[in-house]
Amino acid sequence: MKRLVVVGSVGLALACASVSGLATEGSAVEPVAATAQETTSTLLDGVFTAAQARRGRRVYSRDCASCHGPEMQGGEMAPGIAGSGFMVFWTELPVGSMFERIKVSMPEDGPGRLTDEEYTDVLAFILDSSDYPAGETELPADKAELDKIMIVAAE
Ligand code: HEC
Repeated sequence: MKRLVVVGSVGLALACASVSGLATEGSAVEPVAATAQETTSTLLDGVFTAAQARRGRRVYSRDCASCHGPEMQGGEMAPGIAGSGFMVFWTELPVGSMFERIKVSMPEDGPGRLTDEEYTDVLAFILDSSDYPAGETELPADKAELDKIMIVAAE
């Protein structure tokens, strides 16, 4: 039953995404739409590599797993941070927003102590664990570049 609810909300998010996608193609540009327009790819385009996700897994085990759990399922210490139930809250935001959010607030016991490359690798691992496809190019460790990739629901 819980699973059905999750699938339903992802479908809804997808429907919303395509409606607003149509809206931004017109000439009436709203401030909110401007952000979406600057994105040139989505998480379905293979925006990280499998090797990068494997590096991210090591960073995750060292710096995140103690609170978020070995499989990102969350626990008493912290919420789950993978899967459609988590990603749905980020739908239509640029990947750069998630990068920034993690960089300024995580690990909670020492925010900002990882390198940008490590934050990017762990982000690749979160995406890999959330069933997004790996591709040929690595996720860049650069907020401006990450802002060009839009978060959409996994297929
Ligand atoms: C000391 C415990 C602790 C560690 C270590 C930690 N986190 Fe967290 N994390 C939390 C808590 C508690 C929250 C919920 C409060 C908040 O959102 O700030 C959270 C929230 C988050 C969120 C936002 C969840 C949401 O629903 O938006 C993300 C993403 C995240 N953490 C990623 C990471 C990553 C990646 C690492 C490793 C680099 C990490 N965390 C390490 C405790 C931790």
